[in-house]
Amino acid sequence: ADGYEFVVVANRLPVDRTTGDDGDQHWTRSPGGLVSALEPILRSSGGAWVGWTGAPDDDTGPQEVDGIQLRPVPLSAEDVDRYYEGQSNSTIWPLFHDLVEPPVHRRPWRQAYESVNRRFAEATAEAAAHGATVWVHDYQLMLVPAMLRALRPDLRIGFFLHIPFPPVELFMQLPRRADLLRGLLGADLVGFQRPHAAQNFLQLAAGLLGLEPDDDRVAYEGRTVVAQAFPASIDVAETDRLAADPDIQREADRLRAELGGDRRLLLGVDRLDYTKGIEQRVEAFGELLAEGVVSNDEVVLVQVATPSRMRVAQYQQLRERVEREVGRINGEFGAVGRVPVHYLFQSRSPAELVALYLATDVMLVTPLRDGMNLVAKEFVAARRDEQGALVLSEFTGAAAELEDAFLVNPHDVEDLKRAIIAALDAPPDDRAVRMRRMRARVQAHDVDRWARQFLEALA
Ligand code: UDP
Ligand code: G6P
Repeated sequence: ADGYEFVVVANRLPVDRTTGDDGDQHWTRSPGGLVSALEPILRSSGGAWVGWTGAPDDDTGPQEVDGIQLRPVPLSAEDVDRYYEGQSNSTIWPLFHDLVEPPVHRRPWRQAYESVNRRFAEATAEAAAHGATVWVHDYQLMLVPAMLRALRPDLRIGFFLHIPFPPVELFMQLPRRADLLRGLLGADLVGFQRPHAAQNFLQLAAGLLGLEPDDDRVAYEGRTVVAQAFPASIDVAETDRLAADPDIQREADRLRAELGGDRRLLLGVDRLDYTKGIEQRVEAFGELLAEGVVSNDEVVLVQVATPSRMRVAQYQQLRERVEREVGRINGEFGAVGRVPVHYLFQSRSPAELVALYLATDVMLVTPLRDGMNLVAKEFVAARRDEQGALVLSEFTGAAAELEDAFLVNPHDVEDLKRAIIAALDAPPDDRAVRMRRMRARVQAHDVDRWARQFLEALA
């Protein structure tokens, strides 16, 4: 039968179907690190991408957008509510991020998760050529590997988890936990961001299913399933190209002048998500102002907080708390025409983000828990001038690679304050040495290498 030799499967397509003010339909880039990592891979491989358009009840058919073959899987409003906002983002997401917020468990959500995963498996079975390689992504689709194998035993199936895999005792809290594990074991290769995550997975296979792992693999239903770490990364060449663009450099200069040329710029760029530690970061900055360690004349914080999952209550509540705190700090420490926090509840393009990275003195990447964090790597890749400092949470996957950052425990506001001041006060040559080492690491471990290593291990 016809079909694609290489198929990527992810909850979201690389572009969202959106309706403009004029009522016209457009494709816009989807949010998040998964799309940032995979989009360049698929563009060069010529495969197909199975996923959701981001709009409920959308019946868009197969089509090509920006050189990528899209195979949309429709989700009803009820699917979005139960499978996406419910089981994926109110149960699994918080549980896999170490219970930063309490997970909610609901039976109808689990049923919807299973039936939507089945539809993804069916759509993939239709798109894939005989003997094709299929790469399934992330926590929304953990049942797909086993479902797809049942439909199409001829396929090579890989799975990659972009978020952390929890410690054994947290995973054990999930209702129907063994089903999720069996779902993943349908793959030939299960990839994680960190080696420890792969070990947790194998330990669960032993504890829950009585399997006997041998090093990084386990025999299951007459096959071998391998579990390994493949730290995700960014398109370094593209970030470098943007950073070298004179228009973007001019935009960085303009931003600096606009914010007050004599002020040092602190920057945060995150989806507005409770895993990102935005509240603690803003609180630490507010305390530094209150204590007079820094002043509104000397420093300014720009926080891009990209709208995300806004129908989920925990995200709405986070937004309210962050906006209240930003308002309080600006009210207390601001002056007419000059406020300490510029808060943008907006999505920014890669070019706009690079201009911000270039204008920055201290980049603040302080998640409470994060599988990788590509923003940290993008900041480093953009700084061809070897200037700028990175404050980075120990609880990100990126921290294992970027050891020359100013590492911080984001749960500890005092430690956040210490790290911000250390980064601001570091001598320029110390900052340059750190940046040079971090750049070398990111350049040598870019997204092409990530995908190549995963796909070679899968083959
Ligand atoms: N991003 C973007 N516009 C924004 C905010 C973020 O394009 O307004 C991109 C950012 O450049 C990065 C990705 O979204 O490539 C975020 O990935 P990360 O791993 O840092 O976090 P995630 O959102 O996946 O949790
Ligand atoms: C993280 C997840 C992705 C997800 C992205 C954006 O990067 O790992 O799977 O696509 O966030 O979240 P959203 O819910 O908008 O797809």
